[in-house]
Amino acid sequence: MFSLENIVRPNVLKMKAYSSARDEFKGTASVFVDANENNLGSLAGERYNRYPDPHQKKLKERIAVIKGISPKQIFLGNGSDEAIDLLFRMVCRPGQDSMLHLPPTYGMYEVSANLNEVQLDAVQLTPDFQIPVLEVLRNVKDTTKLIFVCSPNNPTGNLIEPESIETLLDNFDGLVVVDEAYIDFADAPSWTTRLAEYPNLVVLQTFSKAWGMAGLRLGMAFASEEIIALFDKIKPPYNINEATQELALKALDQTEQLAYMIEEIVQEREMLSDALPTLEAVEKVYPSDANFLLVRVKEANRLYNYLLEQGIVVRNRSSLSGCEGCLRISIGTINENQQLFQAISNFR
Ligand SMILES: Cc1ncc(COP(=O)(O)O)c(C=O)c1O
Repeated sequence: MFSLENIVRPNVLKMKAYSSARDEFKGTASVFVDANENNLGSLAGERYNRYPDPHQKKLKERIAVIKGISPKQIFLGNGSDEAIDLLFRMVCRPGQDSMLHLPPTYGMYEVSANLNEVQLDAVQLTPDFQIPVLEVLRNVKDTTKLIFVCSPNNPTGNLIEPESIETLLDNFDGLVVVDEAYIDFADAPSWTTRLAEYPNLVVLQTFSKAWGMAGLRLGMAFASEEIIALFDKIKPPYNINEATQELALKALDQTEQLAYMIEEIVQEREMLSDALPTLEAVEKVYPSDANFLLVRVKEANRLYNYLLEQGIVVRNRSSLSGCEGCLRISIGTINENQQLFQAISNFR
């Protein structure tokens, strides 16, 4: 049976969160000399001399409406990479606990595990990039606290079958983290719709992909109120800066434009995934539910270098087990996609 108390690190359960100046005083006042800020102003712009809201109240309220989730079930991080790191710190005792991931997948799960001195167990996805569920369950140990599932998966682009994720959630007593960085490009419901059913589910999303805000660093974790309270307890107090909070609030008012951008990217993805296999250099384009394509080519390293010479940078994934001979190509503008197509068609 899953019990949050059983998996959270004892020091995290015991510790008290940092109490900031903005936490200790609530109400109205005219003189704020409680946070050692520069009251003369900021050279960067109005308001930036003040610390930002540590709880991102306005931003969470807007996200809650858009996602149909209570603000108490939302954690905001300095990118979803921060949420990944905090999950390790929340439940994995360094040098004792372990996590399980499913390569080929996003590399930061492994980096965060190594940084936090957490043992890394890996179960390779099947040749069609799905989860071999029974093998995963066989590899779960008493010390396994986290399983990372990336859906749609990076770098393969596909959604993971929901039945596999359900089986993990039903049979694993640690946290199942479903990383949905690319969900806005997929024709599938988010796992946030299943949070009420699964107390051990954590869903990650980000503003870096469909929302086009990679430079602002804003990621989201959705989970039970209890898990979110633990994120809040262990996060750095001012982890989302004022400029990001302001700009994200503006962006959140433009959901219609967001839908247009997603539509255009998905259309271009479909166009490229039909067109690329007609080229001599291309062996296979894998189905994608994301904003990139995994493309198996005849000579990955040579094509990669040739594209660089043409001023086109793709991601060479050919050294990853399961992605031999593959390049990962993000969907660009219509013009960029045409340039890329033309360049590959000229490759000899
Ligand atoms: C699957 C996946 N998760 C998370 C991230 C990181 O997102 P963020 O920019 O929010 O840190 C990426 C970025 O490429 C990703 O591919």
